[in-house]
Amino acid sequence: MKNILTNHQSNHKKDHHYQKARKEGFRARSAYKLLDIQKRYNIFKRAFYILDLGSAPGSWLQVAKEFAEHNIIRYNDQFYHRDHYKILGVDIKKISSIENVDFLLMDFTNPDFPNMVQSYFQNKIDLIISDASINKIGNKFSDHLNQINLCYNILDIVKIHLKVRGVLVLKTFQGSDFKKLFSKIKTEFKLLKAYKPKSSKKKSNEIYLIGLQKK
Ligand SMILES: C[S@@+](CC[C@H](N)C(=O)[O-])C[C@H]1O[C@@H](n2cnc3c(N)ncnc32)[C@H](O)[C@@H]1O
Repeated sequence: MKNILTNHQSNHKKDHHYQKARKEGFRARSAYKLLDIQKRYNIFKRAFYILDLGSAPGSWLQVAKEFAEHNIIRYNDQFYHRDHYKILGVDIKKISSIENVDFLLMDFTNPDFPNMVQSYFQNKIDLIISDASINKIGNKFSDHLNQINLCYNILDIVKIHLKVRGVLVLKTFQGSDFKKLFSKIKTEFKLLKAYKPKSSKKKSNEIYLIGLQKK
């Protein structure tokens, strides 16, 4: 067991994106998945109010902050813009703080969460990103179903809080119930894409749904 763990850890540390994240000051290699998604779909365009579900350790929040700060200057025009940004992260695990980013230490499936989101933003949200994943137990089938279930919970939050024409990024796992989830989310957006970022490990069955222009 010890050897397996040691091997796993050293492989992880040899990983190109892990090393890159350490060098570039990101808290996790997942930052590059979001950056890949941004490159392909420009999800951060005019995003000022951003909610990140399942944020720990916080690399997506770091990325979101960079784009939101940039957007204040870049989109200062006659079209939709704001002179400030609001970024809220939530996780059941603690994160170390990030300046100008707020964080709730709680389970986002808690029935109190929607009210807390409403009182924080006071407005609909431009972009909801979720890299949340269930605690895998190692059984691919039940892990898949549990993750799909979590995605339906997230969809309920999206329906209430994401603005019309808003954007969603949602991590899910491929498997038997993926199609049904895809079809359900598709009814909420003008365009829905499934995308596996280059930086997502090939052996992982994770895939991201990108919802563009909420109806
Ligand atoms: C892969 S990590 C997120 C990594 C993050 N995007 C980053 O770049 O640092 C997934 C996170 O989802 C969180 N999570 C899963 N279900 C949750 C729930 N119901 N409420 C809050 N957090 C949850 C886990 O605690 C875990 O920290």
